[in-house]
Amino acid sequence: MCLTRFRSFVLVLLLNVILTAKASTPAATSQAKPGCQSRCGDIIIPYPFGTGGDCNITEDFFITCNTSFTPNKPFVSTSNIEVIDISLDGQLRILSNASYDCYNTSGYRRWLYFSLWLGLPGFSINNTKNRFTAIGCDTYARVDGFLGQNYATGCLSLCSNITDVSNGSCSGIGCCQTSIPKGVRSYNITLESYDNHAAVLPENPCSYAFIAENDNYSFSSTDLLSFDFQDKQFPVTLDWKIGNTSCNEAEKDTMNFGCKENSNCNDSENNSGYFCKCYEGYNGNPYLSNGCKDINECETMSPCNGTASCINLPGTYNCSCPVGYEGDGRKNGTGCSLPNKGQSKRSPLIDVALGTSIGFLGLLLGIVLLYWMLRRKQISKLREEYFQQNGGILLREQLSRRQGYREDVKVFAAEELEKATNNYHESRILGQGGQGTVYKGILGDNRVVAIKKSIIGDPSQVEQFINEIMVLYQINHRNVVKLLGCCLETQVPLLVYEYITNGTLFHHLHNDGDDNDAPSLPWEARLRIATETAEALSYLHSSASVPIIHRDIKLANILLDDNFIAKVSDFGASRLIPSDEAQITTMVQGTFGYLDPEYMITSLLTEKSDVYSFGVVLIELLTGQKAVCFKRSEEKRVLAMYFVSSMKEDRLLDVLDPRVLNDENVEQLKEVAGLARRCVRMKGEERPTMKEVAHELTGLQAMPKHPWSESKLMGEEAEYLLGDLNSTYDDGATSSTMGYDSINNKITFQLDRAR
Ligand SMILES: *[C@@H]1O[C@H](CO)[C@@H](O)[C@H](O)[C@H]1NC(C)=O
Ligand SMILES: *[C@@H]1O[C@H](CO)[C@@H](O)[C@H](O)[C@H]1NC(C)=O
Ligand SMILES: *[C@@H]1O[C@H](CO)[C@@H](O)[C@H](O)[C@H]1NC(C)=O
Ligand SMILES: *[C@@H]1O[C@H](CO)[C@@H](O)[C@H](O)[C@H]1NC(C)=O
Ligand SMILES: *[C@@H]1O[C@H](CO)[C@@H](O)[C@H](O)[C@H]1NC(C)=O
Ligand SMILES: *[C@@H]1O[C@H](CO)[C@@H](O)[C@H](O)[C@H]1NC(C)=O
Ligand SMILES: *[C@@H]1O[C@H](CO)[C@@H](O)[C@H](O)[C@H]1NC(C)=O
Ligand SMILES: *[C@@H]1O[C@H](CO)[C@@H](O)[C@H](O)[C@H]1NC(C)=O
Ligand SMILES: *[C@@H]1O[C@H](CO)[C@@H](O)[C@H](O)[C@H]1NC(C)=O
Ligand SMILES: *[C@@H]1O[C@H](CO)[C@@H](O)[C@H](O)[C@H]1NC(C)=O
Ligand SMILES: *[C@@H]1O[C@H](CO)[C@@H](O)[C@H](O)[C@H]1NC(C)=O
Ligand SMILES: *[C@@H]1O[C@H](CO)[C@@H](O)[C@H](O)[C@H]1NC(C)=O
Repeated sequence: MCLTRFRSFVLVLLLNVILTAKASTPAATSQAKPGCQSRCGDIIIPYPFGTGGDCNITEDFFITCNTSFTPNKPFVSTSNIEVIDISLDGQLRILSNASYDCYNTSGYRRWLYFSLWLGLPGFSINNTKNRFTAIGCDTYARVDGFLGQNYATGCLSLCSNITDVSNGSCSGIGCCQTSIPKGVRSYNITLESYDNHAAVLPENPCSYAFIAENDNYSFSSTDLLSFDFQDKQFPVTLDWKIGNTSCNEAEKDTMNFGCKENSNCNDSENNSGYFCKCYEGYNGNPYLSNGCKDINECETMSPCNGTASCINLPGTYNCSCPVGYEGDGRKNGTGCSLPNKGQSKRSPLIDVALGTSIGFLGLLLGIVLLYWMLRRKQISKLREEYFQQNGGILLREQLSRRQGYREDVKVFAAEELEKATNNYHESRILGQGGQGTVYKGILGDNRVVAIKKSIIGDPSQVEQFINEIMVLYQINHRNVVKLLGCCLETQVPLLVYEYITNGTLFHHLHNDGDDNDAPSLPWEARLRIATETAEALSYLHSSASVPIIHRDIKLANILLDDNFIAKVSDFGASRLIPSDEAQITTMVQGTFGYLDPEYMITSLLTEKSDVYSFGVVLIELLTGQKAVCFKRSEEKRVLAMYFVSSMKEDRLLDVLDPRVLNDENVEQLKEVAGLARRCVRMKGEERPTMKEVAHELTGLQAMPKHPWSESKLMGEEAEYLLGDLNSTYDDGATSSTMGYDSINNKITFQLDRAR
C-alpha cells in the first residue's frame, strides 16, 4: 500500500515538472539563429541560411536580401537567382527565366539565351520535381547541363497547322517535355528553328524553353501566339544539403556538426552531404541548438477521447482514462469504456481499493517471478559449471571425435534423472559402495535403469572418468552391464546403466544369510556364470579397442538377470591400459580377499590381476565359501590361500561345496579347481590369460556329467532354471563357435544317458 501511494506521489510530481517546464518555454517562431535577420520580404530565412556573418552556416548558405525591391527580395548567395521559399526539409525554391527566340515576317529575330549557374556544390536541381519544357511549332530546344560532368538533352516540337495542337498535351505538337537527370547544378538553354518559323507565322512567332516545377506549367494553344514568356519566370525546386560528407564522418567533428538536440542526421544520396530532421513528436529547426521542440499533441491534435485526460510527454503524449475506465483513451484507439457494464455502479472508493490491491498483487507477483527467474538462472549456471567441472566439454569432444561408436548412448539432463529416482529417494537405493550409490530409476519412457552416483572429488580424475565413460560406451558385450548414458550437470557425475533384475552372484551364492533353506545355485549354473564372466573379462582384456582392467572382480560385481545370465558391472575402479604399456602403476585398489598379492606388493597393475580375482571367484563358486570370513579359523580366513593349501595336501574334496558335489560332476569340479589354482598363482606370469580361462571353461562345460536335474539337492526353482538355461544355450550367443557342436553332441549324449 505504502509503495503504491509513494509511486502515485512521484507520478504527480513528475507531471508537475513536465507541465511547469512546458508552460515556461517561450513560443518559438523565429527559425533563424538568434540575433539574425529571420526574413527577407515575405520570405522566411531559417538557419542554416543567413544573411552574413555567423547567420549562415557556411558561405554556400549566404542569402542576399536586396532592399531595393518592395517587398525586399532574397537571392541565392550573390547571384541574381531569386529565392521564393526555403524549407527545412532540404529544399529551396528559386525562380528561373525562360529562353526565347522570336521572329517576324521581315526576318527580324529577337532571342534570349538563358543560363542558370548555381556555383554551389551543395545545391542541385531536384530531378523529380522539375522538368524541361519547350513550346513552338518550329522548335528545337536543347538543355546543356552540368552535374560534375556535362550532359545534354532536349526535345523537338513541330506543327504544320496550328489547329493540330491540343491543350494540356506536351507530346511534340506545339509543346514538348523531357525530364532532367539527377544532380544538375547548372544549365544553358539553347533554342533553334529549322525555318525561322516561316511556315507557322503569324500564328506562332516564338519558341520558348524553360525548366520549371512539374505542375507549374500546363500547355495552352494560346501560348503559341503570346509574347508573355519573354518576362515570365518559373519556380524551380533545388535540393540542399550540408557539407560534402556522410553523417558518420560529419559527426566526428562535433564542433561543426549541423544536427543539434533531438534530431536525426540523414545521409543525402552519394553520402556527399547530410541533412537533419527533428525526432518524431518534435518540430522546429534541427540545425539550431534547442531548435527541435516537443510538439504538444494535446493542444495541436486533441488526440484523446472526451473523457480521457491528455498528458503531453517529450516526443509523445498519453491519454489516461478516468479511474474505473479502461482503454488507451485515444480517439483513434479504443477510447475509454467501463470494463464491465454489470459492475458499473461500483463506488469509486472500491475502484481505488481494487486498483491498489491489483497493483500490489502485480508487484508481488513480479517480485516472485523475478526471484524465480534469477533462481533458475542460478541453477542452470551451476549446472553448466558442474558440467564443465565434470568434464562435459571433454566428453562432448570425445563423443564428436568417436562418431561411429554406439549411438544409443545418451547424455541425460539432471532433471530427468531427478525425476526418475524420485529425487534420489532412500527407497530407491539399490546398493552402496566405495564407488558410489546406485539408485533404481524409472525414466519417462518407463524404462527401468540403475543410476550410479559416482564419488569423484579430485578434479584431476575428471579426464580419467571421461575416458572410462568413453570405454564403457564402446563396450557392447552380452555379459557386461550396458551403460546407457551419463549426466554431468550434477556436482557428482551420474552414470545410467541398464537395470539388472536378479541381484548379485554374491546374493545367490551365499544367500546373503537371510534364507538358509533356499536351494543353492546349482553347479551347472555356477559353471556357466563363471564361463560368461570369463568371456566378458577376456573381451575387456583383448577385444575392446583399448584393453581394460576391471580391477574389482568379485561376486558382488557380477549381476544376474532374469535368466541368470551374468553381467559384469562396476567399472568404477577400472583402468585403461594404453596399448604400448602392458602394465601401469596405480594406487593399490580392490577388495581384500580378491586382491592380487603381486599387485599389492609391486603396485604394478596388469591384466593378470583380474585373473587372480577371477580365480578367487571360481574358488568361491567351487566351495560355496566367502572369499574372506573372519568367523573362520585363522588359516582358513583367506579362502584362496586355504583352498590352495588344501589342494596341495590333496584335501580338495573336503573344501568343495557339498551342496553341488556329486559323483557325476566330481571330475568337472576337479578340473575347475585346477584352473582356479592356476589363476591364483603368486606370480602373475604363471597365471593363464583370461582368454585361456574362458576357453578352458567353455570346454569344461561340455564335459560328461550327471544332469543336475537329478541332483538330490535340486528344488523346483532349479528345475525351472534348467529349462531357462537350456534355452539360453540354444541361442549359442556367448559360446564360441569353436566348441559349439561338441556341446550340442554332449548334451544329447548326456540326456540319452539320463533316460
Ligand atoms: C556567411 O556568408 C558570408 C558571405 O559569403 C561569409 O562571409 C561568411 O563567412 C559566411 N558565414 C559563415 C559562418 O561561413
Ligand atoms: C538589388 O537590385 C537592384 C536592381 O535589380 C540592383 O541594381 C542592385 O545591385 C541589387 N543590390 C544588391 C545588393 O545585389
Ligand atoms: C519586325 O520587327 C522589327 C523590329 O521590331 C520592325 O521594325 C519590323 O517592322 C517588323 N516587321 C514586320 C513585318 O512586322
Ligand atoms: C526531390 O524531391 C522529392 C520530393 O520532395 C524528394 O523525395 C527527393 O528526395 C528529392 N530528390 C533528391 C535527389 O533530393
Ligand atoms: C553555358 O554557356 C556559357 C556561355 O557560353 C558557357 O561558358 C558554359 O560553359 C555553358 N554551360 C554549360 C553547362 O553548357
Ligand atoms: C489549317 O487547318 C485548317 C482547318 O483544318 C485549314 O482551314 C487551314 O487552311 C490550314 N492551314 C494551313 C496553312 O494548312
Ligand atoms: C485551349 O484553351 C484556351 C483557353 O484556356 C482556348 O482559348 C483555346 O481555344 C483552347 N485550344 C484548344 C485547341 O482547345
Ligand atoms: C507557377 O509559379 C509561379 C511562381 O511561384 C506562380 O505565380 C504561379 O501561379 C504558378 N502557376 C501554377 C499553374 O501553379
Ligand atoms: C530573369 O529576367 C529578369 C527580367 O526579366 C531579370 O531581372 C533576372 O535577372 C533574370 N534572372 C536570371 C536568373 O537571369
Ligand atoms: C568538401 O568540403 C571541404 C570544405 O568545404 C573542401 O575543402 C573539400 O575540398 C570538399 N571535398 C569535396 C570532395 O568536395
Ligand atoms: C486518426 O486516424 C486518422 C486516419 O487513420 C489519422 O489521419 C489521424 O491523424 C489520426 N489521429 C490521431 C489523433 O492519431
Ligand atoms: C470516446 O470513446 C468511445 C468508445 O470508444 C466512443 O464511443 C466515443 O465516441 C468517443 N468520444 C469521442 C469524443 O471521441
